Amino acid sequence: MSQPFDLNDDNAYQRWKERKLASAPTALTDLVVEIGDPRTLTDAEHDAILERCRRTNMAIYIGTSGDDPDKAIPVALGARFGLHRLDHNRGADEDAVTSLTVQTDAAHRDYIPYSNRPIAWHTDGYYNTPEQQIHGLLLHCVQPAETGGENALLDHEIAYILVRDRNPDVIRALMHPGCMTIPANIVDGVELRREETGPVFSIRPDGRLHMRYTDRSRNIAWRDDSSTTAAVSCLKEILHTASPWHLAGRLESGWGLISNNVLHTRTGFTDGRKPRLLYRARYYDRIGGT
Ligand SMILES: [Fe+2]
Repeated sequence: MSQPFDLNDDNAYQRWKERKLASAPTALTDLVVEIGDPRTLTDAEHDAILERCRRTNMAIYIGTSGDDPDKAIPVALGARFGLHRLDHNRGADEDAVTSLTVQTDAAHRDYIPYSNRPIAWHTDGYYNTPEQQIHGLLLHCVQPAETGGENALLDHEIAYILVRDRNPDVIRALMHPGCMTIPANIVDGVELRREETGPVFSIRPDGRLHMRYTDRSRNIAWRDDSSTTAAVSCLKEILHTASPWHLAGRLESGWGLISNNVLHTRTGFTDGRKPRLLYRARYYDRIGGT
C-alpha cells in the first residue's frame, strides 16, 4: 500500500501531494453544494458532497430547511455518508447532538464553545481518548449570529503538506506519541476527564491522516524538548499565515459543514433577537470510508 504520510517514503508523498494540490479548492465556493432537504438527499446531491469530502475532507451544503430546528437533520445527513458512531461528549444533549448556543448555566459557562468568544485553530475532540478520536464532524446552522460567528477552515492534509515541505523533522516531532498532553479536567475535586497524551499527526489503520490539535496555550502541555518547541511554533506560524487553501465563511440558516474533522476556527459573535444556534455532531467514523 502507498504510504504518503510515511516520512521514509518520499516518492509516495510526492505523488500524493501532486494529485492533492492539483484538485485542492482555493475558494470557499468550490466547497459549496446546493441541495434541497438535507434529510432526504438525492443521489446527485450525495455524490457532489462526497466528491468534495474525498478531495478536501469537507463540503458546505446550502439546504432548504432554513431555521427548522429539527435535530434529525444532522443525524440523517451524517448517516448518508457512513457517519453513525456519535460521540456523547459532555455538553451534548441526550441524542449526542450538541446545541451550540450561548449558555450560562454551571455545566457550560466555563467552556468557550458555549460562549460568544472567538475560538482559535483546532480539530474537535483533541482531548478525547485514543479509542474515541473524532474523525467526522458535522455542523448544521439553524440560526446565524446577528454579526460574526464565521469559521476559517483548513484541510488538515494541506496543513501537513505545508509543514512537511518546510521541514520533515517538524512532522517527526508532531507525530511523537508524547507530543501533546491535555491535562485532566478537574472540577470541584472531581476528575471529569483524565489527562490525555498523544501525537498531533497520526496515520490511521487505513493509511489516512488524522490530526488532533488546539492552538490554545492554556491547559495544554507540549513535550518538553527543543524539537517539539520548534515544531509547534512552525505549525502555529503556518496556521496563522494566509495561503490559497485557507478558506473562511459563515454558515447561514439551513447551511452546514460536513467534514473529516478539518482544522477550523470561529470568530466571536453578537446575537440578535434570536440567538445563534448551530447543531454539532461528532463521530468516530470518517466520511465515505476512504
Ligand atoms: Fe470545533
